[in-house]
Amino acid sequence: MRVAVTGANGLLGGEAVAQLAGKHEVLALGRGPCRLPAGPFRWAEADLGDGRSLERALLDFRAEAVLHAGAHTDVDGCERDPEGAWRVNVGGTEQAARACRALRARLVAVSTDYVFDGRAGPYAEEDLPCPRGAYARTKLCGEEAALLIAPGAAVARVSVVYSGRPGAKATFATQIVEKLSRGEQVKAFDDQWVSPTLAASGAATCLELLLESDHAGVLHASGATVLDRVDFARRVARRFGLPEEIVGVPTASVKLPAPRPLRGGLRVDRACRLLRAAPIGVDEAIDRFHAEWQLRRA
Ligand SMILES: NC(=O)c1ccc[n+]([C@@H]2O[C@H](COP(=O)([O-])OP(=O)(O)OC[C@H]3O[C@@H](n4cnc5c(N)ncnc54)[C@H](OP(=O)(O)O)[C@@H]3O)[C@@H](O)[C@H]2O)c1
Repeated sequence: MRVAVTGANGLLGGEAVAQLAGKHEVLALGRGPCRLPAGPFRWAEADLGDGRSLERALLDFRAEAVLHAGAHTDVDGCERDPEGAWRVNVGGTEQAARACRALRARLVAVSTDYVFDGRAGPYAEEDLPCPRGAYARTKLCGEEAALLIAPGAAVARVSVVYSGRPGAKATFATQIVEKLSRGEQVKAFDDQWVSPTLAASGAATCLELLLESDHAGVLHASGATVLDRVDFARRVARRFGLPEEIVGVPTASVKLPAPRPLRGGLRVDRACRLLRAAPIGVDEAIDRFHAEWQLRRA
């Protein structure tokens, strides 16, 4: 099958390309040159924010399935540049959806728990979104573009994505390991409840949804455990055999441009019922994260 992945230099898109390569004809799409290890896939540059590059690339490839994982994911950057956030998160998803409609291709668009305001999480698919901030609003509008324009599309929501793979970008999880290894203290928000999503596991869930399921509409595809960031950091420290020098701080103690949902996180019961590559619990995910991290030393 001809499968395209956007955001292929990113955490989740990169994992998806690695899992697809060799099994399907894969077009990896991203901004600028490819930063993935070489493999049996093609690379094309496509800007999500220019209104046409992505659509044209998908049409040229005659995609049969599209995992749309590309996005402007810098939450505070989106707040400072709401027009840019709209162009990429809404316009980019609109491009993917238009191409999928024209090609009768299946679309899975990746989204976020930030579509909820974080007053009453963890949230199920039926709960009403209430986005706060530019990132959250543009991601929710992107969801609507996918569901409205591409017949039978699915939206896969994840939360706090991380990966230990060599070359994967820095995240809260990698900072915990790096800081504690240097003997530094880690500060973590103790009032943010999240569903951390190991990129490899989230990508597997999204790909099964894309290629082996006809589920249409929203599906929560994050990690299966909802916990606060201090608890997450402690579990990472323990698994890596590092001192638990973790200090909880309230979100309000740091002046951030964009609001953060506090009582967030996602319920994943539906994905667990529907899919074999179902969301996994946090300790299993951290075990895999630890195994990925060992590859950095190899
Ligand atoms: N990261 C999280 O914690 C998190 C949490 C909840 C939901 N999500 C959602 O999960 C999905 C996957 O994100 P991720 O975790 O893999 O984040 P990521 O690592 O930041 O990946 C996003 C990718 O999109 C690319 N991109 C940004 N602007 C672009 C543009 N104008 N044209 C082309 N490509 C562009 C980025 O390119 P560069 O690599 O060049 O920057 C990056 O490779 C997104 O839909 C995101 O909203 C992420």
